[in-house]
Amino acid sequence: MGAAVNCSKHKCIALTFDDGPGPYTEKLLHELARAEVHATFFLVGRNVAARPGVVARIVADGHAVGNHTWDHVFMTKSRKAVIANQVDRTAAAIGSAAGVTTTLVRPPYGATDKRARAVLAARNDAQILWSVDTQDWSNRSVKKTTKRAVKGARPGAIVLMHDIRPTTVKAVPKIIKKLTKRGYTFVTVPQLLGGDLRPGTVYYSR
Ligand code: NI
Repeated sequence: MGAAVNCSKHKCIALTFDDGPGPYTEKLLHELARAEVHATFFLVGRNVAARPGVVARIVADGHAVGNHTWDHVFMTKSRKAVIANQVDRTAAAIGSAAGVTTTLVRPPYGATDKRARAVLAARNDAQILWSVDTQDWSNRSVKKTTKRAVKGARPGAIVLMHDIRPTTVKAVPKIIKKLTKRGYTFVTVPQLLGGDLRPGTVYYSR
C-alpha cells in the first residue's frame, strides 16, 4: 500500500473508516485523493456487495481495506461458526470486488474475546482496534469530530471514524489540514504496524 514510510522516524497516524462503503464514500475518496492521503477502510460485507465499484476504487486509489463482518455482528454474541462465516463471506466479497485479500479484521463495536480471537487466529487475521475514538457516529458534528481527532492524535495512533456519516466526510479535510500542520504523516494500517502482524492479536496503535 503505497511507498514505505519509516514510522519510527516520522509522526505517523492512520485514519480508519468503518461500516462502508456507503453513499458518501466516493466524496471521501475525492477528498483523500486531493490531500494525497491514504487511509484504511473496514468494510461491511453486505455494503461491499451493494457497491463493489466503490471498493474497487478504494483499492485503486491506494487505500488499505479490512474486514468488518458481513452484517456488523457482535462477535462476542456470535457462535464460532457464525463469526467465521461473517468474516469469510466479507473476505470473498472484497476479493471479487477489488481482487485483494486482507488479514485485517476490525470486530464491530470493538467487541472481541478469547473465542473471537481463536476464530480469527485460525484464519490468520489480526484484530485492528483504535486508540482515538472520534465518536463521529454519535456526535454527528463536523466540529466535534475534528476536535476529537486532533486532540487525540499521537504518533502511532489509529483514529476511528465512519465514512457513512456525511459530517465525518466534511470533517476529514479539516483533520488532515490540522494534523499536517502538526507534522503528521498519514499512513495506512499496514504501513503503521508493519507487515508482520500476529494472527489473532489485538492492535490498538503502533
Ligand atoms: Ni462498525
